[in-house]
Amino acid sequence: MIKKQLRKAVIPAAGFGTRMLPFAKSVPKELIPLVDKPVLQYVVEEAVAAGADEILIIISSGKEAIIRHFETAVELEKRLAESGKTALLEEMQKLNHLADISFVYQQELKGLGDAVSMAKEFAGGDPVLILLGDTVMDSAVSRSVAGQLVDVYEKTGSSVVALEEVPDEKVSSYGIADGREIADGILKLSRLVEKPALADAPGRLAVAARYLFTPGIFTALAETLPGLHGEIQLTDAIVKLMQNESVYGCRIRGKRYDLGTPAGFVMANVEFALRRSDLHDTILERLKSVQ
Ligand code: UTP
Repeated sequence: MIKKQLRKAVIPAAGFGTRMLPFAKSVPKELIPLVDKPVLQYVVEEAVAAGADEILIIISSGKEAIIRHFETAVELEKRLAESGKTALLEEMQKLNHLADISFVYQQELKGLGDAVSMAKEFAGGDPVLILLGDTVMDSAVSRSVAGQLVDVYEKTGSSVVALEEVPDEKVSSYGIADGREIADGILKLSRLVEKPALADAPGRLAVAARYLFTPGIFTALAETLPGLHGEIQLTDAIVKLMQNESVYGCRIRGKRYDLGTPAGFVMANVEFALRRSDLHDTILERLKSVQ
């Protein structure tokens, strides 16, 4: 087992985002704000906190605003400097130097598995973190959620997926995993089923928007045929990977906020706004007055 240090992260952000239409028609849903910062920026920061310094963002035609967000805004920075808005200027400059960020187009939107396969060349035989670009992970501990996966990879040298327990009514919306707990919160996976009916689900542990893969995932993806909805499903490729290599699950210490649905977007914004001392009182007062 050759274990390499985790340096690379991939963020799929090419999807249509039909559940966020009409908003997502002209603005990438990954740039939707969580209070005042785009979801994708939280995701990039999480990858960096986990140790990634090279990041590949998968985009599609029409989603070039994502590239703009991570470019230097010369005029804006000049204006902030002239008007003495130093804190904001520093924040903008920090954003330019978060990591070495590059972009690749997914030509046809053939599913998450297809999006991840666009990263084969970037990975170049190294392990990669995959972080879904529309989902924020709020860690309950000092280590970021992606960092928790890196810790499991460092112990096992194997692929690892984030797991979160979900209620019965959500089982059919996620990939559901089963396995043997080998250490506190770490499972060696034996089964993975994409969006099962509640009666067929092997448990309540859902795969939660973060993955760390060995290069074997790209071989598995190349052999994966279109599945559910005619898309190349990442879950199908993970099942293939499990036939050749051990795959682990990590029960995350933290909470997932999926901003790719209207309810998820609104609830995440309310929760995060209430945490901010500058917004807490105003928002709470207003919430109390609405029915
Ligand atoms: P979703 O499962 O939310 O799919 O993708 P979607 O197509 O974006 O949204 P809906 O279902 O139409 O509402 C999870 C993440 O994977 C990316 C998305 O951009 C999102 O960040 N993705 C999905 C791709 O990059 N390519 C794809 O073909 C599908």
